[in-house]
Amino acid sequence: MKDRLAEIESEALAAIDKAPDIDALERIRVRILGRKGSLTQILKGLGKLPPDQRPEVGRTANQIKKAVEKRLKARKKELKSGGYAGLLKGFDPTLPGRSRPLGHLHPITQAMGLICAVFERMGFDIARGPEIELDFYNFEALNIPPDHPARDMQDTFYVDEKVLLRTHTSPIQIRTMEKTSPPLRIIAPGKVYRCDSDITHTPMFHQVEGLMVDHDVSFAHLKGILTAFVHQVFDPQTAVRFRPSFFPFTEPSAEVDIQCVICRGKGCRVCSHTGWIEVLGAGLVHPEVFRHVGYDPEEFSGFAFGLGVERIAMLKYGIDDIRLFYDNDIGFLHQF
Ligand code: PHE
Repeated sequence: MKDRLAEIESEALAAIDKAPDIDALERIRVRILGRKGSLTQILKGLGKLPPDQRPEVGRTANQIKKAVEKRLKARKKELKSGGYAGLLKGFDPTLPGRSRPLGHLHPITQAMGLICAVFERMGFDIARGPEIELDFYNFEALNIPPDHPARDMQDTFYVDEKVLLRTHTSPIQIRTMEKTSPPLRIIAPGKVYRCDSDITHTPMFHQVEGLMVDHDVSFAHLKGILTAFVHQVFDPQTAVRFRPSFFPFTEPSAEVDIQCVICRGKGCRVCSHTGWIEVLGAGLVHPEVFRHVGYDPEEFSGFAFGLGVERIAMLKYGIDDIRLFYDNDIGFLHQF
């Protein structure tokens, strides 16, 4: 009887593995486990065996039944999914793989790169400074008095009394002059923070600071460099206008407007119908700032400027809402 059982088992398992389809599998199941199946017959006939053989034969037969059922189930699953050949059905392994879409630099990063490249060609070096800055570098050394409105909690993110998120890139002027002696020509790109948010302001934005110090640097140099910059970033027909203004760290000071590149100066929504757009603040370095870093204002003079990168990017790419840069909308970003 034992031999007979072993034979049923090995035959059944081999047949299951070779079954070409679900129907064939079903026929095998009936042949072994059906009402008149070979294994069923043995289990039914247990009573006729001598009592001392019954337990062992019964146990073995049940084990085989379980093994056969398990293998049937596995093979059925395999046949349903088409087996290995099924996996390859409709699949052409000679086709090239699907490529992943390639990303690109954020428009602000692109604009920063463009701005820096223009100044680098004019001989400016890149300088950097920390975004978490001391009050001393952000305000005090820049001749900004303690009661200046920019120092208000409403405008500046303070970390503690003496530490803050820099509100402009001008502290890099001080850090650079502390470390180097003139002549120097640097630009400093970076993130700045102000407690402000609407269509034209985000709490974090980007500036590029410029500083040139040498003997006899004049306002004419500032004008020449900035005009050349605007003509390279936009086009040589773009008009540039200097308006008198005030910054505690420059004297004289100016705000610089460029002709609206959207309407070409005729007046539109973007330039609030003035034909001009303000893009930067500038001036000649204040003698008080030179004294803070140990430069002799009688011997040296210099100019400084700070320009808003988002403004330049908005004009360059024709974008009318600054917040679009920071919404992380892939559809928008893909266009650049
Ligand atoms: N730091 C000024 C600002 O953020 C810009 C500026 C820089 C003005 C350098 C003059 C000289 O508005």
